[in-house]
Amino acid sequence: MFSAEVYQNRRNALKEKVSSGIGLFLGNADASMNYPANTYHFRQDSNFLYFFGLDFPDLAAIIDFESGEEIIFGDDLTIDDIIWTGKQPSIHDRALLVGVKETRPFSKLQEYLSQAFRHGRRIHFTPPYRGEKKMLLEQLLGIRAAIVRDYASTELIKAIIALRSIKEPCEIEELERAASVGYQMHVTAMRMAKPGRFEQTLAGIIEGISLSNGGMVSFPVILSQNGQILHNHDHSQILQAGRLMLCDAGAETPLHYASDHTRTIPIGGKFSQRQKEIYEIVLNANNTAMNAVKPGVTYQQVHLIACKVIAEGLVQLGLMKGNPDEIVNAGAHAMFFPHGLGHMIGLDVHDMEDLGQNLVGYDDETKPISQFGTAYLRMGRKLQPGFCITNEPGIYFIPDLIDLWKSENKHAEFINYAEVDKYCDFGGIRLEDMLLVTETGCNIIGTRPPITVAEVEAIAATE
Ligand code: GLY
Ligand code: MN
Ligand code: MN
Repeated sequence: MFSAEVYQNRRNALKEKVSSGIGLFLGNADASMNYPANTYHFRQDSNFLYFFGLDFPDLAAIIDFESGEEIIFGDDLTIDDIIWTGKQPSIHDRALLVGVKETRPFSKLQEYLSQAFRHGRRIHFTPPYRGEKKMLLEQLLGIRAAIVRDYASTELIKAIIALRSIKEPCEIEELERAASVGYQMHVTAMRMAKPGRFEQTLAGIIEGISLSNGGMVSFPVILSQNGQILHNHDHSQILQAGRLMLCDAGAETPLHYASDHTRTIPIGGKFSQRQKEIYEIVLNANNTAMNAVKPGVTYQQVHLIACKVIAEGLVQLGLMKGNPDEIVNAGAHAMFFPHGLGHMIGLDVHDMEDLGQNLVGYDDETKPISQFGTAYLRMGRKLQPGFCITNEPGIYFIPDLIDLWKSENKHAEFINYAEVDKYCDFGGIRLEDMLLVTETGCNIIGTRPPITVAEVEAIAATE
């Protein structure tokens, strides 16, 4: 974990932003897979990690925004626990590592909150995303589990977003660490993308790279010849020469900072002319978007810049027709690029998404656009130094979407359906990097995994 001062400073900054009441931070519990004692790898709640750093189950914490009091609630191990899981320092000693001096048994949380209620204190909490936590909140606060999310504190959420959006130097180092594991994962997948191999062999090996560096993957690996299925977790196919393999994968560091890169590789090592033409458009969209990133520009503007590059490229290839600005205004490009340019990244791969996508990605100045495609843009607001974001344009040929739009004659003035039909077996290309917004522009976080046609072909030619 970071030094105690890092967590103390974060909690102090939060106290500056929330004027009254009590912040309640529930850590995560172990989650069962198929019977109670067989659990998934434990993943701590990211807000808990951010303010309290302790990375083990069954903890809660409060911050009294008026008195400044901070308490961690949790239970020391019993001899039965120690037999199965080994000895651990006391909760009190571990709390000191994050600068919290007061600890109490978990069972005292209810009493603490009941007393706070009696004194008319407001309890601020973030929206729960796990069923068990909703039930715990029902028990603690007397709000039905089914509706407890509606009672989450917008004041606390906005304060947390304001802090977590600007990455500290120690966090940027962690993101670089995550990116360097991501680099190894992607270069390994590129080298292994040979005809006759199972997708699942590559997916398993790159997940193992993440685990062998001390962290889980930051989201389930996406690795498939069917890259047109945006979040395709099926790895059951055998790689075939001449097709494309899309790999979207990332690692968590031991402190749980995430990486997220996507690369698209020609199976067998050489792009065909048709693949190269589409690839170069996506790469141009990626590079143009990156060059447009700087403080004061909104990411919505950058997204639309990337859309225009894609529209221009597809017009040049004869897959679209007309004026690229009009194409983007109409949303016709979204048949090929039906998602957003990127999202924030940090302790979560989609950073802070538990707090509400629109509160993270938008504000009073920049509102979400509801048009198909751009509606999926998770991050739209004005960029500031210290923001960490992904840049992930793509072009996909999604047969069902093409057939649907064609049957409706949708955007027929902009889409050359006769040409598009020839690409129904193409798959998809996405190219994703991680960016740190600086005072004047942006930097790629970590070493950029091979991305030009020449770089990818050179790596794919090696074993
Ligand atoms: N890895 C999921 C995404 O790129 O958003
Ligand atoms: Mn990704
Ligand atoms: Mn991403």
